[in-house]
Amino acid sequence: MKKLRLGIIGCGGRFNAHLNGLLQLDNAEIVAVADPIEERRIAAGKNTGAKKIYHDHTDLYNNESRDTLDAVMIFIEPTAHTDTETRAIDMGLHFFIEKPMTMDLELADTVLKKSEEKGLITSVGFQDRYLDLIDIIKAELPKHKQGGLVYGAWVGGIPGVWWWQKKSTCGGQLVEQNIHLLDGLRYLYGEPLSVYATCSRGMVVPGVDASPEYDTDDHSTAVIRFKNNVTATLVSGCYSKTVRPNCGYVITLDDMILDYRLRNNLIITTQTVTRDIKRSMDQTFALDQAFVQAVLTGDRSLIRSPYGDALKSLKLAFAANKSMETGEVIYF
Ligand SMILES: NC(=O)c1ccc[n+]([C@@H]2O[C@H](COP(=O)([O-])OP(=O)(O)OC[C@H]3O[C@@H](n4cnc5c(N)ncnc54)[C@H](O)[C@@H]3O)[C@@H](O)[C@H]2O)c1
Repeated sequence: MKKLRLGIIGCGGRFNAHLNGLLQLDNAEIVAVADPIEERRIAAGKNTGAKKIYHDHTDLYNNESRDTLDAVMIFIEPTAHTDTETRAIDMGLHFFIEKPMTMDLELADTVLKKSEEKGLITSVGFQDRYLDLIDIIKAELPKHKQGGLVYGAWVGGIPGVWWWQKKSTCGGQLVEQNIHLLDGLRYLYGEPLSVYATCSRGMVVPGVDASPEYDTDDHSTAVIRFKNNVTATLVSGCYSKTVRPNCGYVITLDDMILDYRLRNNLIITTQTVTRDIKRSMDQTFALDQAFVQAVLTGDRSLIRSPYGDALKSLKLAFAANKSMETGEVIYF
């Protein structure tokens, strides 16, 4: 069987979350890994069996070619994207990239244009699109009267990575984390008509509850309007310490409530029945499997979040950030 030859760029937390799944794929092999942090790249080499271990993406691209690699998987922090993608494109390498794909929307537009010109397969880490529970919601919605209220929430604490402490390096919680639910809204309801958002700071005290440079919002609320009388309220919070509310969506239809508990279960309630459906698959594995299969076969339909579509979610998240700054509604 032909195996897809993969290069890994960035061997931190998210790469390690994909690792077990990647190792289970019998049609892919990791041949090269790169990370400026020595212990991470060495551990990645050991854990994947990759013989080629590089300092960073430049080192990897300078020493590999389309003869030795088919695709790269990019797991670096949001502000580390420079020519990481454009060099892959120039070399004819397909790529998977984690969200948010960059903090620089001009760079993202360039990446999209170049990758489309080259006809490359791209995939972005919106893992929830591959989740069985989201498939159920997507199939259920057209069976009911269109419209209604959606409440979405991602409320928790502050992730441990250094770059999450500053809005300039993570984009804020909506851009970095709750973009999953934001993207899910687009996946379920199509393109938005408008967004209005507010944010607040002051609960998390820099140097006490977070690192001294903490300057991101403690919480934000975005109101997003879609066609067909759908209005979503998406809340994000990172100040919560001990007890936390359910994260996910509560979708209220005229005759049904879909209560999606983030990556765990879906409670469907009607006048007569309540069903609790547990997640039955690993959506990150499904996402990686789809990427590998798509590149090997050329079947793009397997990819549920190509770069161009993911970029629309990133732009929506940035539009919400702009609304937080200006206090104005952004219309599309
Ligand atoms: N899809 C998801 O559910 C999900 C979950 C967590 C994180 N993420 C995303 O994954 C990305 C990575 O997050 P993380 O938690 O792994 O961060 P991390 O800080 O743990 O790891 C990033 C790694 O990239 C390395 N790196 C930086 N520049 C590099 C370069 N030029 N070449 C090679 N390596 C380089 C860093 O040294 C670091 O080890 C972020 O964009 C984050 O938002 C996605």
